[in-house]
Amino acid sequence: MKGARIMSNFKLGFIGAGFIANFQAKAVAQIRGVDITGVYSLKGAEEFVANVKALGVGDCAIYSSIDELCRNVDAVAIFAPNYVRIDIMKEIAVSVKAGAALKGIICEKPLGRTVAEARQLVALAKEAGIPTAYFENQIHMKGIRAQMQQLAPVQAQMGPLALSRSAEEHCGPHEPWFWNPIQQGGGVLSDMGCHSIAVGWFVLTPTGKPITFLKPVAVSAVTSLLKWGVPKYRQELLDRTGVDYSKTPAEDFATGMVTFQNPETGQLVQAQFTNSWMYDKQGLRLLMDGLGPGYAFELNTLRSSLEVFTGDQAAESVADSETALEKSTASRGLLTVETNEPDLYGYVDEIKDAVACFQEGKDGFLNFEYGFEITRLCQAAYMSAERGVTIDLTDPKIQEELESYVSLIAQGKGADLLYGKK
Ligand SMILES: NC(=O)c1ccc[n+]([C@@H]2O[C@H](COP(=O)([O-])OP(=O)(O)OC[C@H]3O[C@@H](n4cnc5c(N)ncnc54)[C@H](O)[C@@H]3O)[C@@H](O)[C@H]2O)c1
Repeated sequence: MKGARIMSNFKLGFIGAGFIANFQAKAVAQIRGVDITGVYSLKGAEEFVANVKALGVGDCAIYSSIDELCRNVDAVAIFAPNYVRIDIMKEIAVSVKAGAALKGIICEKPLGRTVAEARQLVALAKEAGIPTAYFENQIHMKGIRAQMQQLAPVQAQMGPLALSRSAEEHCGPHEPWFWNPIQQGGGVLSDMGCHSIAVGWFVLTPTGKPITFLKPVAVSAVTSLLKWGVPKYRQELLDRTGVDYSKTPAEDFATGMVTFQNPETGQLVQAQFTNSWMYDKQGLRLLMDGLGPGYAFELNTLRSSLEVFTGDQAAESVADSETALEKSTASRGLLTVETNEPDLYGYVDEIKDAVACFQEGKDGFLNFEYGFEITRLCQAAYMSAERGVTIDLTDPKIQEELESYVSLIAQGKGADLLYGKK
């Protein structure tokens, strides 16, 4: 038709082809106008391409360098492990300087293993001059957005939420590098505390205010090793992953509180977070609740409208348990089944948001600067647990210390702290 403009699909390129890349591919399959057209990964690229093909989300080419990938896609997503973030981001920046016309850069949580790393990521993206999206899926969860919408008129009448409680828990990560505190940047607090702190802050934010409107003023936390430090399970972990928690342990449980202040009213509100890698129930559980004056919400991803049951007699023919639920620990008995995890956990809406924003030449709803703030809160939590005190985020001395802080656990020196030898 004369004058008609054919819009081509937005071309996404993935760096890394492991767990999250494959999960996100399932999310892309639920979005119109987006294809995965390239991947660069040390391992798993062929399998990933086959998955992309099976999902019908693009003709995905395997590239042999980050530069080549950047030159052939509209946006790249860093879905590689935490310890290669800086090197990857440097390569992206070089590629952009040399002419790669990227419209956006996505990076998975956590933005950095330390405040210094997160600051470097922000600086490299600024230098490249490309819009960014920090991927924190829980803020995009439909359940979280729906409760906010539903409760907005109540909040207008009664006042904002005063307390949020957020938990993400499962039986432990799938790849050895997650367990290695040096490579990962810590234990469960670095890995999943970032989710719970972010979503807790988000739900407390009064309707219509920017995401960093509430000012974090204090953080307190505890980090412990409750399961994987017990000799029997430590050995199991060593055999399975090669990571020795007798020498370089990381926390498998963390809990704490972030206190925020409303800069307009002075009101203090609190976000409690709880995270564990020792949650031996059906599988991954995200649990969030919020309490305001006269109203509340609660969300629990382990409550599904679908359950299946497999008795002992039938259990010899069970399907792979992870087809029911992420990090599933059982394949018999009464199982919770979630039929659309990429949507439930917010991946679909976070990709949709990033692509829409990049197409308009702007940052995603959550940008790298926001990711930096979350890294800073996580690191303040490690500092609190290590020192046994509440961290005052308004203290300039603490602010300066955080800039170069590397937790003992992330240095591989967490044994004294976690095994209770003071
Ligand atoms: N939002 C979430 O819920 C969520 C869930 C899982 C993982 N993540 C994050 O996603 C990232 C990746 O985690 P994962 O579970 O997919 O890990 P993974 O180990 O399953 O996969 C990592 C992939 O990156 C590749 N890789 C390793 N080094 C590389 C390099 N230098 N260059 C290119 N590719 C490289 C590996 O070969 C592998 O394909 C991590 O930062 C993690 O924190 C987020």
